[in-house]
Amino acid sequence: MSKITIAIDGFSSTGKSTIAKQLAKTLAYSYVDSGAMYRAVTLYAMNHNYISESEFKPELLINDLDKINLKFIFNSSVGYGEIYLNDVNVEHEIRTLAVSKLVSKVAEISEVRKKLVEQQQLMGKNKGVIMDGRDIGTVVFPNAELKLFMNASAEKRAIRRYNELTKRGDKVSFDEILKNVEYRDHIDSTREDSPLVKAEDAIEIDNSNLGLEEQFYKIHQMVQEKLTSL
Ligand code: CDP
Repeated sequence: MSKITIAIDGFSSTGKSTIAKQLAKTLAYSYVDSGAMYRAVTLYAMNHNYISESEFKPELLINDLDKINLKFIFNSSVGYGEIYLNDVNVEHEIRTLAVSKLVSKVAEISEVRKKLVEQQQLMGKNKGVIMDGRDIGTVVFPNAELKLFMNASAEKRAIRRYNELTKRGDKVSFDEILKNVEYRDHIDSTREDSPLVKAEDAIEIDNSNLGLEEQFYKIHQMVQEKLTSL
């Protein structure tokens, strides 16, 4: 059976990666978390003191872009590719609230986007890929056969992210998380380069009140329909 490209976009913490990982496993497709790439570049900028909550020196980061090497290495014990920044596994570190607070500023920079989009297009050139992010159906793979646009209420999304972070031991407050979710939504959807918008041909899914199993069933069915219609 021929393979397709599945693009999953949407607001922060809408469970894009959860459904993407489930589908990748079931279909034996590869999963690419494009947000992890923006997070890893942000971590690099933080480690070099190019960005903090009080200041940002984008030109220094842009100058260093050639020194930033990103790759995903499949970890069979978790079932997906983990991100490496200059050969160091940063999968855990990039999920902190400190990175979440700065990532949308870094993701506004066109030079950063250009570099990452090129890599993403290369990773998906043979199809059989599920990629999640903000501009996958609009910019990275405008010809993807299936495009989903995920949404949920800000409250629900903040609860999910709060649970994720506290479960792994991070000390965060719910209010801070909610503020971050709303802040990122705003920057991501109003930036000039590749803002978060629903592609015209994307299917919108609001999962505020949708259980994980129900959501998986619904989306898996869409994939099957798409595959049989080809
Ligand atoms: O927190 P969540 O998992 O929802 O976000 P993420 O997918 O890890 O993405 C983190 C941030 O990276 C987003 O808030 C965007 O600013 C940026 N991003 C982007 O601009 N374009 C993408 N394709 C993916 C992420």
